[in-house]
Amino acid sequence: MHGAKIVGVGAYVPDGVLSNADLERMLDTSDQWIVERTGMRERRIAPPEMAASDMSVYAAERALAHAKLKPDDIDAFIVATVTPDYIFPATASLVASRFGLVGKAAFDIEIACSGFIYALATGASMVRAGVFNRVLVIGAEKLSSITNYQDRATAILFGDGAGAVVIERSPTNSFLSCELGTDGAQPELLYIPAGGTREPFSEQGVRAGRHFMQMQGREIFRVAVTRIQECTALALERANLHVEDIVHMIPHQANKRIIIAAARQLGVPIERVVINIERYGNTSAASIPIALAEAVESGRIHDGDPILFVGFGGGLSWGAIIWRW
Ligand code: ACO
Repeated sequence: MHGAKIVGVGAYVPDGVLSNADLERMLDTSDQWIVERTGMRERRIAPPEMAASDMSVYAAERALAHAKLKPDDIDAFIVATVTPDYIFPATASLVASRFGLVGKAAFDIEIACSGFIYALATGASMVRAGVFNRVLVIGAEKLSSITNYQDRATAILFGDGAGAVVIERSPTNSFLSCELGTDGAQPELLYIPAGGTREPFSEQGVRAGRHFMQMQGREIFRVAVTRIQECTALALERANLHVEDIVHMIPHQANKRIIIAAARQLGVPIERVVINIERYGNTSAASIPIALAEAVESGRIHDGDPILFVGFGGGLSWGAIIWRW
């Protein structure tokens, strides 16, 4: 088995800001409610002409520059997203093509907010198995395109952005362990009812807003904290590490209260947790790589630090990865 290492990180968020004050003007909500219940103050919103592949390319360019690599050095492109440019083809193939590349492996992973965890585990496993030398893993979302801005329960939560990492084969291994899980018994906890084969797009469906995301937030909140704890414990056990060994916890940024409750129950001191939710809201599969890129850029992460990446979301789905930087 080979080793896998992250050699470059990068993030991109669009310039447009949607603040709590903006939301107060659009909906029956308040800055105080949003900050107290979610920790969010602003989110970034992409302009109409910008799709997930565009943000993916911008984040990927930064990750490649950080790794001092050219696009052609990459063997495979993986994009985690629930807001692809098209239902098909894969956004990852559009990204490779934007770099002028033909013949590269490229595919998407669609598992909502757990997307980056699943994509990182997939990419790193393929590198470890010797299938590829280098894989570019991207989490990219344009959640503003599937958010109903008349529904205060969801409109306040989501934003747009992308983050990317370059994984490279290495004599030393950084991908220590992972634990991935799902429970598909209640898709309606967080889903888009229409647009798939269960309920194809129709005029009536669109009129009823069934092409937008719908969520039962309270139930997800409860499940999230438990699942984060369970999958982290299993991943730590597999890596032969203890929670005290974790120097950085980089969780999916869904709700500050979920992050704090999960960290507290795990016993991770809050100063070890990377939180940027106040500036970007929930960017689903993009949130972990954006937070990672910011933490690396600020000099917070040092060689050899054990990192816990942990996420959960629609599916329901969840996953934890223990990574030695
Ligand atoms: N402004 C003001 N009041 C509101 C708002 C709002 N934006 N939204 C809801 N309320 C009201 C509700 O109507 C309710 O009023 P009531 O008591 O009169 O009925 C009250 O506030 C409490 O509502 P809850 O839904 O119980 O509020 P809660 O504290 O649970 O917070 C939230 C809601 C923020 C959505 C929370 O449940 C949450 O973050 N859940 C998890 C979301 C999540 O993590 N999603 C998964 C990942 S996303 C992915 O996979 C794409």
